[in-house]
Amino acid sequence: MKGIVLAGGLGSRLHPLTKVTNKHLLPIYHKPMIYYPIETLVGAGIREILVVTGGKNAGEFLRLLGNGKEFGLRHINYTYQEGEGGIAAALALAEFFAEGEPVCVILGDNILESSIAPYVDNFRKQKSGSRILLKEVNDPERFGVADIRGGKIVRIDEKPRIPASRYAVTGVYMYDAEVFDIVKGLTPSARGELEITDVNNYYIDKGILEYDILEGWWTDAGTFESLLRASNLVAQKMRLDSSAGAEV
Ligand code: G1P
Repeated sequence: MKGIVLAGGLGSRLHPLTKVTNKHLLPIYHKPMIYYPIETLVGAGIREILVVTGGKNAGEFLRLLGNGKEFGLRHINYTYQEGEGGIAAALALAEFFAEGEPVCVILGDNILESSIAPYVDNFRKQKSGSRILLKEVNDPERFGVADIRGGKIVRIDEKPRIPASRYAVTGVYMYDAEVFDIVKGLTPSARGELEITDVNNYYIDKGILEYDILEGWWTDAGTFESLLRASNLVAQKMRLDSSAGAEV
């Protein structure tokens, strides 16, 4: 399975922090944001990774990440997204890289406490279709929200005013190679973007979208509130890890 980190977009919700740098280069406690999704993929045994960047500072990713030695990789692939066409448009740029293999996609601003290895293994067993990860949250209206009936997701609503559940769709998505044909058939949403939620609803309608409920905390980091929350969660985890280490 190949890994794709989507780190494009203009980060307009974080102005002026993102006026002279890219959102994914901002700090989350002691590391740049982009480190976390890469570590999440590497922690699930994924070694072939494509970073989709964008904006005015795309070159900085190369300076920061190089060939990925720090992550135990031999090589990192890069591509460039022009403008802000949406998550699904960024994913479309990865078709050449996937070469017909299944992919694990992670949004560049998603920070997770725990390993996704068990869920990636579940998807490997699944062979085709797609698999997403859900997390119960207090503010589901900020996210894609799963409508679950009888244990099955029947629909995902993107940022609904009245959420059907408290289960947010996190920014970790696993797809078979058909995803690139699905993206080609999408039309832009009201906000003018190709939505990843439309891709997921396509798989739901075909009856081939599975899910897991994520263990541990999860947050995005694309707003001032969530950026701060992400740093605090990481700092707390570091303190817990080091005090656990001290007891051994
Ligand atoms: C995107 C997706 C949304 C998902 C979220 C996870 O939202 O559109 O479905 O729940 O990522 O971080 P955005 O960050 O573009 O608002």
